[in-house]
Amino acid sequence: MTAKLILGKDVSEEIYSELRQRIDSLKARGITPGLAVILVGDDPASQVYVRKKGEMCEQLGMHSEIIRMSGDSTQDQLMSKIAELNADPRINGFLVQLPLPPQMDETAVINAIAPEKDVDCFHPANVGRLLTGDPDFMPATPAGVQQMIVRSGVETSGKHVVVVGRSNIVGKPMAALMMQKGPGADATVTVVHSRTRDLPSITRQADILVVAMGRPRFITADMVKDGAVVIDVGTNRVDDPTHPKGSRLVGDVDFDAVKEKASAITPVPGGVGPMTICMLMANAVRAAERSAGDSQ
Ligand code: GUN
Repeated sequence: MTAKLILGKDVSEEIYSELRQRIDSLKARGITPGLAVILVGDDPASQVYVRKKGEMCEQLGMHSEIIRMSGDSTQDQLMSKIAELNADPRINGFLVQLPLPPQMDETAVINAIAPEKDVDCFHPANVGRLLTGDPDFMPATPAGVQQMIVRSGVETSGKHVVVVGRSNIVGKPMAALMMQKGPGADATVTVVHSRTRDLPSITRQADILVVAMGRPRFITADMVKDGAVVIDVGTNRVDDPTHPKGSRLVGDVDFDAVKEKASAITPVPGGVGPMTICMLMANAVRAAERSAGDSQ
């Protein structure tokens, strides 16, 4: 079997066309959704992500602000910026790009963001709402993965979803989303991680395998059941002398081998990548609708 490819570009385009309609209807009422991003320091990958977020706002006709702070800024300076954005009526949602420089306390920073503007869904109030089944914002990458699964026609109810990795950004919220009651969820969920004993015996039970471990080509074909749906959230840069840059991006899944076993698979790049920004935009539009008094 060669797997069907699930491409983030295709799925995100569908969602963007729905978002454009919602943005148009907000604008018709005089409201332009506004998203701000704070970038502290000059981490090259973060710079690329932040630029892409600004460009997407522009393409969608949203208001966007990128606040660049030097890498030696103090925690107090960052906290004042957050307080300003919390109070700014033009900004419906904002995020602080991670990772932060070592002098900053990431937990304190996330806790300082007003939950109703926390479009990353990182604030404990929003994480708690997700766990209790009353989510306001959706965690962007896990929600993007869920949309890829659902919009490719994959049934999730009663299926065994195995999540590989237990990070706060992907693994934990991914598990919470898939075990919720309702469409696109209702799954039996197992989370495995670096300390799991006999991890392959569990990944082999997965009907849907979501991998966010941060280890290049960690999931090999022998760890995957025939016909499984495999979603690769990993992006790892590895040396490749045959590539003009001397390196290239690979996922956490050994794509070439696993695609022969899976029924559907996401490539890296081109798979989950575009979904994170897409779902972030969806959260920003939702925040604008809420501040406009819509209950949606
Ligand atoms: N760094 C890597 N991914 C993310 C993300 O989704 N949000 C933020 N704020 N920082 C990140």
